[in-house]
Amino acid sequence: MSTAQKRRGAVVGAEKRVPLSRPTIEDDEIASVVAVLRSGWLASGPKVVEFEQAFGQLLGAPHAIAVGSATAGLHLVLAALAVGPGDEVVVPSLTWPSTANVIELLGARAVFADVQPGTLLLDPADVARRITPRTRAVIPVHYAGAPADLDALRAVTKGRGIALVHDAAHALGTRYGSEPIGCGAEPAVFSFHPVKNITTAEGGMVTVSDAQLAERLRLLRFHGITKDTWSRHHGTGPVRYEVLEPGWKYTLSDLNAALGVVQLGKVERFNARRRELAARYARLLAGLAELHLPEAPPYTHTHAWHLYVVHLRLDRLAIDRDAFIEALGELGIGAGVHFTPVHQHRHYRRSREAMSVSGVDLPVTEAAGEAIVSLPLYPGMSDEDQDHVVAAVRTLVTRHRLPAAGGTR
Ligand SMILES: Cc1ncc(COP(=O)(O)O)c(C=O)c1O
Repeated sequence: MSTAQKRRGAVVGAEKRVPLSRPTIEDDEIASVVAVLRSGWLASGPKVVEFEQAFGQLLGAPHAIAVGSATAGLHLVLAALAVGPGDEVVVPSLTWPSTANVIELLGARAVFADVQPGTLLLDPADVARRITPRTRAVIPVHYAGAPADLDALRAVTKGRGIALVHDAAHALGTRYGSEPIGCGAEPAVFSFHPVKNITTAEGGMVTVSDAQLAERLRLLRFHGITKDTWSRHHGTGPVRYEVLEPGWKYTLSDLNAALGVVQLGKVERFNARRRELAARYARLLAGLAELHLPEAPPYTHTHAWHLYVVHLRLDRLAIDRDAFIEALGELGIGAGVHFTPVHQHRHYRRSREAMSVSGVDLPVTEAAGEAIVSLPLYPGMSDEDQDHVVAAVRTLVTRHRLPAAGGTR
């Protein structure tokens, strides 16, 4: 062990590193993948169909379409809705870049709206201000696993030819009132990246209720070809196929779906543990005046607790956010930023400059972008791991507290 490592251990009283996230992979996931490896069919086939059916059933969605990633799913949905050049789509800037990138990839323009302080969910009033005759869709992100204010967003978009498309990458298990996100009311796109509430290594799922839209998504998912490889080789009828329009290769493989089928059966257990850990963070970090803890939206909901995001009170600390995260790393704790506002990335800065959008017109997003820290949260995290995180946060807050701040311990 290096001297630096010994010093770190001495500070927090433990050697163990707690990552930001870690997938829970058990013997049955491994057996499921091995069974597919032995089956002779690895690409998109029967396991994908099984995963889609189980997923649709869980959420009450009439159609579930598995894809290679949530990014692919968002791209397909917008393409199927014929979003293209001259169109605008309103999105939060506080999101992963792909929510906006897929819009630009289709030749349309991502228009950024602000989020609400406290919850960091898309602000329906600001969305309303950004709508123009060119607006074709609004994409709320159910940030960290909390639902966006759907009544208010539906009121803004309804009857105006504006689609609501859910970026549900964080929202497996999220409910708005009693409505599960992804029940099919509007297209919803989930992610199964390893940090998400369930994982397929890489993967995603689109849920919709409209049969025609589902059909088109399936077509565009596989080259725009009328018959996928599995049904050509195992279905009845002729093996001939035809390209109806150019599509993408955005399928999920049976190997990935083998993970998904098993993980899906555990989502309630995983989410229950996430909920417990979030409640425990709230208890253990309460009273630290240098932090704002995540606020619950004011309407009835079920939170999926994909992320636990705290907000540093930079006016009370003599350390900035990036240095705080680096210092947590030195204490053995993995932390992250969800997210760097998308409008601040070079491509989006340039396109806003070209449109003469200047100054800070996303004040909540920009302030959050400098102050948010995601703390470790994953189902396999023990109470002891979490105590280690809390001790490290308290150590840093104490070390960097500004004299006049007067926070409690
Ligand atoms: C809000 C949000 N949208 C979309 C995505 C893209 O998901 P994927 O990695 O499955 O493409 C992510 C991934 O982290 C995300 O956090």
